Amino acid sequence: MKQSAIYPGTFDPFTNGHLDVLERALNIFEEVTVVIAENSQKSALFSIEERLAMIREVIRDYKGVDVKVLKSGLLADYARQLGAKAIVRGVRQVKDFEYEFQMSLLNRHLYPEVTTVFLMPNVKYTYVASSIIREVAMLGGDVSKFVHPCVLKMLDKKLEQRHDHKS
Ligand code: PNS
Repeated sequence: MKQSAIYPGTFDPFTNGHLDVLERALNIFEEVTVVIAENSQKSALFSIEERLAMIREVIRDYKGVDVKVLKSGLLADYARQLGAKAIVRGVRQVKDFEYEFQMSLLNRHLYPEVTTVFLMPNVKYTYVASSIIREVAMLGGDVSKFVHPCVLKMLDKKLEQRHDHKS
């Protein structure tokens, strides 16, 4: 049986740090499904459809990757529905751990057959988080080293729309 995993996140936007984790996951699992989900603690810059389009573009040349959207409900239920036995999460710093630890144990409580696998991205992505990329990009800063060109384009478009809206 093929070993498959899901890689959930809000991906607002999808960064090169996310891609690094995805590539590492593909070294372990035959199939990885990126799952775009909402985090009730965050408000998003990109719509679900925009994030779906950007991730589809980023993973276009990758084999064994798929992208899906969890519109509502629990990730654990979705993982069960997809038959995924592993949830991949990237951890960059020690401060990520507390939240990840809670989520992993809760997901295990809800779906005992699932195991969360933590992967560390390349150290050059230690400080790359979607939130800071969003902030820098919306203030006109250069984030081209941290995102795929198609994500950069979409960020530029958002910035333009903001300016148009204000003027
Ligand atoms: O990229 P993020 O924001 O750290 O990802 C968090 C995410 C989306 C994976 C988490 O909020 C999630 O699983 N949301 C779906 C709803 C759910 O199952 N919540 C309970 C998690 S224990």
